[in-house]
Amino acid sequence: MKEIQYNISIKSTANIGELDAKEQELVSRAQNAAQRAYAPYSKFKVGACLLLDNGEMIEGNNQENASYPCGCCAERTALHYANSKFPDSKVTAIAISAFNGNGLLDEPITPCGICRQALLETEIRNKQNIKVLMNGNRHTDIAKCVSDLLPLAFNDSQL
Ligand code: THU
Repeated sequence: MKEIQYNISIKSTANIGELDAKEQELVSRAQNAAQRAYAPYSKFKVGACLLLDNGEMIEGNNQENASYPCGCCAERTALHYANSKFPDSKVTAIAISAFNGNGLLDEPITPCGICRQALLETEIRNKQNIKVLMNGNRHTDIAKCVSDLLPLAFNDSQL
């Protein structure tokens, strides 16, 4: 039996100042967006901010519902808005931050599987890597593209 290895590399910095100015703004906006989340059930507030190649920054946060599965993550709230408002623009980066009762999470938040799948569709459709900035209090981790976060993804070639 052969073994196939998938190599991904994640960068990590404890100093947000190492990010470029736009990326720092994305993280700051993601943190601010989290404050406006509607998360009365989980009390886990997530914010996301996308950068588009037209310069726009699009924020989103999680929106929950008494019917739990009805809720939507911050990443997809922002992504679907961006794609609906600017269908011809490419997403180049996303920052994600999350807060629980103790404040900003110490460790970076990573997007859930459904959001990885949704982001990957945009990455493939636009032929444009989406850098993923996963923000935490202790450090911020950076993936150069969504496909690194979702190896062996399902895609339309399998339909
Ligand atoms: N959530 C997000 O918004 N993004 C993630 O990456 C993980 C989870 C939300 C969904 C739900 O409202 C709450 O966090 C708890 O799972």
